[in-house]
Amino acid sequence: RKRVVRISTGSKQFDSILGGGFQSMSISEVFGEFRCGKTQLSHTMSVIAQLPTELGGANGKVAYIDTEGTFRPERIAQIAERYGVDPEATQENIAYARALNSEHQLELLNTLSREFAGGAFRLLVIDSIMNCFRVDYCGRGELADRQQKLNQFLMKLAHMAEEFNVCVLMVSIIIPVHALHAVGLAYNACQTNQVQSDPGASSLFAGADGRKPVGGHVLAHASTTRVLLRKGRGEERVAKIQDSPDCPEREAIYIITNGGIND
Ligand code: GTP
Ligand code: MG
Repeated sequence: RKRVVRISTGSKQFDSILGGGFQSMSISEVFGEFRCGKTQLSHTMSVIAQLPTELGGANGKVAYIDTEGTFRPERIAQIAERYGVDPEATQENIAYARALNSEHQLELLNTLSREFAGGAFRLLVIDSIMNCFRVDYCGRGELADRQQKLNQFLMKLAHMAEEFNVCVLMVSIIIPVHALHAVGLAYNACQTNQVQSDPGASSLFAGADGRKPVGGHVLAHASTTRVLLRKGRGEERVAKIQDSPDCPEREAIYIITNGGIND
């Protein structure tokens, strides 16, 4: 039987509210506003996953699906140095793929399944999950199609997490309700429609820090552990468990350093 492993976030406080880190064999979702550290967490965990278990790692390789073009190998090198491991070897252990559209994003899972079959991978990062879907399905009548494709993607992800004992870290964004109007002005009409008419988003998250996640209920139900990230005082960031089967809704403070996520 496969044993669940936990991968550290780089912050002891953050790890403690998760019960030791993000788990393999399930999907975890981190969501939050821009610059709250979602991509930095993705980079940090891409290094830590490769470390031995005593250091919070999982002795594993990493797959990184990037839909926003924000992956930086030089950040991986910096974080590797913090942990005293070889920067180049650490970069090489990350299978990187830039998803070009939602169809390609789905196809990448098939490619990765073949790689994961070797048993060496322990972390799969997707930063971010909705970006391609948002662009590809932006018409008024396309929401149902989008949610169906998204569901297909998430089912496949969940299956892979279990089959290959992999921790899936899925990044999603949220747009503050007070900014929806501004978003409508700044983005094209298609984005506005997409955000405001997302079914389930409002009912599920109304009042939850006054923010609406993009992706709605399909996304929310797919992940076992959901963590809201937000900006705190000064350089501080705050992580808050949203709905986890085994963790209470606690908060932790972390910071972003040159060596990645830290206390
Ligand atoms: P979006 O993708 O825009 O939604 O944001 P995000 O949540 O992915 O934010 P990200 O992880 O990119 O975090 C951005 C923050 O990380 C900024 O406040 C940066 O100052 C900080 N940051 C990025 N790189 C470094 C670095 O090399 N050193 C330090 N100390 N901070 C960094
Ligand atoms: Mg980002």
